[in-house]
Amino acid sequence: MSSAVLSLKNIKKAYVMGETEFWALKGVSFDIHEGEMVALMGPSGSGKSTLMNIIGILDNPTEGDYILRGENVSDLDEFDRAEIRNAYIGFVFQAFHLLPRLNLLENVEVPLTYAGYAPWVRRERAMDMLNRVGLADKWRNLPSQISGGQKQRVAVARALAMNPALLLADEPTGNLDTQTGNEIMGLFHSLNDEGVTVLIVTHEAEIAQQTKRSIRLRDGLLESDRGHEQQRPILHEAVFGGAP
Ligand SMILES: Nc1ncnc2c1ncn2[C@@H]1O[C@H](COP(=O)(O)OP(=O)(O)O)[C@@H](O)[C@H]1O
Ligand SMILES: [Mg+2]
Repeated sequence: MSSAVLSLKNIKKAYVMGETEFWALKGVSFDIHEGEMVALMGPSGSGKSTLMNIIGILDNPTEGDYILRGENVSDLDEFDRAEIRNAYIGFVFQAFHLLPRLNLLENVEVPLTYAGYAPWVRRERAMDMLNRVGLADKWRNLPSQISGGQKQRVAVARALAMNPALLLADEPTGNLDTQTGNEIMGLFHSLNDEGVTVLIVTHEAEIAQQTKRSIRLRDGLLESDRGHEQQRPILHEAVFGGAP
């Protein structure tokens, strides 16, 4: 049995709006093990993004414990939380979240800059990642000069820059056409084949069927957590060649 990368123990989250509070998560518990690729599903408003933000240490649970690689994240101060987030977690968002004034290379460098790497190390590492997603030749471009699919590939390159143990993606194909979405999924599959643990939010059954395990939320609670019998379709082979 492989070890748990992360463990959620009765995670609850309340959003307070004026005098009312809304419990977006009402007690969610599960483990994710090293090397797993998991789809997180559920209707709109079921708490998927809220949970992803907690797992990505972008937000705190109101109650419950979040254990990441054996450490209780809730016990750490903001500095340590930021450091762990940067070192262990890559996050890909539906809306890409690239910085518009930075070129593609500089966008991929952001987490490396934050971690304090020397400029030449950042350049080399970021260029490797751009190469990995097939965009090395466009490194000087601004985000506004490339397509949505390419933006998401840059966002994946940025998420990979620190070689994270855990890759989180919140509806990464939500703004993409089917073909481009499949290419991004192919990239996630090949990363998972290399040992990266991947958690993807999707409401597309087709995408969830490509993962061995899918977890479903409903109204802030875990509705189901199951492994798939069928193998994923073979659409991920060498989508991005990335010559060295
Ligand atoms: N910042 C916020 N303030 C208040 N309510 C929020 C906030 N973020 C999310 N919610 C509410 O929490 C619930 C879960 O939202 P979310 O986690 O975004 O769901 P999903 O990603 O599954 O669509 C929704 O009812 C949403 O309106
Ligand atoms: Mg969401």
